[in-house]
Amino acid sequence: MNNLIYLDNAATTFCSQIVAQKLAEFFSMPHGNPSGVHKLSLKSAKLIQEAREFFATSFQVKPTQVIFTASGTEANNLALSGMLQRSKRRIILTTPIEHASVLKTLESWAKRGFELCFLKINSQGQVDLDDLAQKLSAETALVSVMAVNNEIGTIAPLKTMGEIIRKKNRNILFHVDAVQAFGKVPLEFKNWNIDLLSISSHKIHGPIGAGALIMSDRVLLEPLLYGGGQEDGLRSGTESVGMILGFYWAAQEILKNQLENYQKISELKAYFMEGLKKLSCDIQMNSPEQSSPYILNISFKGCESEVLIRMLEEENIFTSSGASCNSRHRKSSHVLKAIGLSDKDIFGTIRFSFSPETKKEEIDKTLEILPRILERLRYVSH
Ligand SMILES: Cc1ncc(COP(=O)(O)O)c(C=O)c1O
Repeated sequence: MNNLIYLDNAATTFCSQIVAQKLAEFFSMPHGNPSGVHKLSLKSAKLIQEAREFFATSFQVKPTQVIFTASGTEANNLALSGMLQRSKRRIILTTPIEHASVLKTLESWAKRGFELCFLKINSQGQVDLDDLAQKLSAETALVSVMAVNNEIGTIAPLKTMGEIIRKKNRNILFHVDAVQAFGKVPLEFKNWNIDLLSISSHKIHGPIGAGALIMSDRVLLEPLLYGGGQEDGLRSGTESVGMILGFYWAAQEILKNQLENYQKISELKAYFMEGLKKLSCDIQMNSPEQSSPYILNISFKGCESEVLIRMLEEENIFTSSGASCNSRHRKSSHVLKAIGLSDKDIFGTIRFSFSPETKKEEIDKTLEILPRILERLRYVSH
């Protein structure tokens, strides 16, 4: 599609051209099952090992501490269920603004006798650190928080949280859903005392169909999938060699450019926010000032986001109202509810999410088109 303005990168990113080309090359060549013994198999196994070593080096862990999965959702499920199946301690701490792949998994464990406790958050989506310190106990099995919130972009104070948890009790495991953070904002696995960290390929311009769980050396998990014992017995099933390689190549690219991208996108977001403030419409910024530059969540007062999204789409501008899983089912956002927005404001919410490919001209075009659309919307609703 020509002239497409894609501002929905938190939902998924377009596969990088370099990655797409390398993948096309890879898929045009014969390749074997990585568990086999002939040379085509050995080549596949070697390629996966190269990818594993890259992620291991990035997070300063051993290659055996990198488990490839099919998605961020699967990495979250493996981290949480894999750990809780073995846990004698029964309390789980999390926040009310986690992704569904964390919340639903933990809710399922609450039905099986675990106590699920929610940490207090403020109107910016920030965890109350005193509440964390207070709620931790010898009975706590696990703390699970996201590094960057997928709807509003709040960045969690992971370093401080890791210190608080470790100080309280060395046995408590710390899980971080870093799907919206990896390759985008600073993230330190070892120094921040993280035990389990989930990442996903399609949020960093890799193909949909790969994710990974990074584990500290003190974690012992029960697998979710049993079978041939791939991924050190933790994720049976023939490895998706192409998807893993695509993830690896995308990670190489994004990590190399992380700082430069951060700077560029921060400026772009600030420029967009300034432009929005100048529009003669009643808006509310729902993203905290100090949030991920990649995400900007706004309530357009008196508008219905679904209509606004469609009207923007007619102009070739692609956005969403928040988490993709909520948008499709027209469910009100649990994140915006938890930070105190009224139903009325939630229904007028748009999430703009950027990528290194987003151009200033595209922001200008969006700022030029928005007032016209908002005017039409106001006219229709009166
Ligand atoms: C914070 C967060 N966690 C987990 C996921 C799930 O990742 P995946 O789409 O790879 O299953 C998403 C996807 O939107 C996300 O934003």
